[in-house]
Parts: sequence; C-alpha cells; structure tokens
Amino acid sequence: MKRFFNKKITDCLRRVGVMAVLVIEDPRHAVPTAKALLRGGINVMELAFRTPNSPEALRRILAEVPEMIAGVGTILFPEQIKNAQNLGAAFGVSPGFSREVVAEALERRFPFAPGILTPSELEMAISFGCQTVKLFPAQISGGASYIRAIHAPYSHLGIEFIPLGGLTPSNIGDYLKYDYIPAVGGSWIAPVELIRSENWNLITARAKEAVAIVQKLRNGSI
Ligand code: 3PG
Repeated sequence: MKRFFNKKITDCLRRVGVMAVLVIEDPRHAVPTAKALLRGGINVMELAFRTPNSPEALRRILAEVPEMIAGVGTILFPEQIKNAQNLGAAFGVSPGFSREVVAEALERRFPFAPGILTPSELEMAISFGCQTVKLFPAQISGGASYIRAIHAPYSHLGIEFIPLGGLTPSNIGDYLKYDYIPAVGGSWIAPVELIRSENWNLITARAKEAVAIVQKLRNGSI
C-alpha cells in the first residue's frame, strides 16, 4: 500500500500524540497561537480553513514559526488541495470522504488524510491507498471502543486512525492506548475563544497538560 500521508508527518504525530485544531479569525493571532502551542510541546497543528483569513494565517505561521508542522483542515473541494499545497502546508485533512479531493491529493502527491466514520468510507479510503485517516466525529460515535471495532477487520493493513471530534483531556487516554491511533486531535487546546481573547498562557497550559497525559500513558504510569 502506498504511503499517502507521509512518514515524516505520521512519525511526528506519533511522537507528540496530540494535534491542535485551530480556527483563526484574525491573522495577527496566527503566530502567537502557534508559538503558544510550541511552548506547550505541541508542534503539529491543523489550521481549519473556515475563515476568509485562514490562508493568510497559514502563510504567517509557515514563514515565522518554521518548527511548527502546519497542515490544513476542512478541505472540502479539490481546488483547496492545490491552494494548500501552493501555500506550503505540510498536509491536509478533511472531515469526510470526497473521492474528488482524495484523487486530487494523490495526483499532486500532497499528504492527505480523509475523514471517515464507517467501514464503507474506510474501504473507499483504502481503495485510494490512504493509510492514515481522520475518524470524525469520534467521541459521539462511540469513542475508542468504536475505533477498536472498526479497526479489527482491517488490522492486517496497518491503517492508522486519528480521532477528532469531542476529545478532551478526560478521554484522550482511552484512544492513545491503541497502537493504531498514533495521535488524537481537537480544538480544546486552542479554542477560538482563547485565541480571540489572546490567552496565550492558557493555550500553552492546555498543550502542556495534553502532552503530559500522552507521556504518562506511554511511560505506563496511567
Ligand atoms: C475538526 O475540525 O476536526 C473538529 O471540529 C475538531 O473537533 P472538536 O472541536 O470537537 O475538537
């Protein structure tokens, strides 16, 4: 199977265990948010392209915070793949599965993880050669035990799941105990209200809290 979501990114996701999802309204908030995450130990983020200023926010992060591995989220249309790639995004993700979007990413060799929820969607992703998928919305769909169930018939294929949707410090440990879940993601670390109010210290504290949970889990102390 082709490695469509490249190894550098999956290795980085596995190392940190947590990906921050950001929605940035004001591009002036982009760099301080990325730096606040880095201070808390998180160096991988999905910038959801849901505001008119998202491309400018990404541009600033890529230029001024090169240590951050910045991907683009909420990719819904094939032309957004081209835009994200031209901007220099490290990878792309989407909430759901679109054949057109996945085909475009494949054609352009742009690292991409589509969103899936059901076995049929997962099989479509597999048929395109995707090895890493976003599972969304994870928590409301049954959480870690749902992923365990959906993973079972495909366990011989080495598929990796990144759950998003409804994750918090109180449930990330349930997911991260499975090898096939290299990282979890969510907006709780840097929600739009904290970005709007420029509460960089709280964003750093939340990043540190998440990283500490991952580390404790991996050391076997929880
Ligand atoms: C996403 O954009 O991937 C999700 O909205 C993240 O979900 P959350 O806001 O529940 O963390």
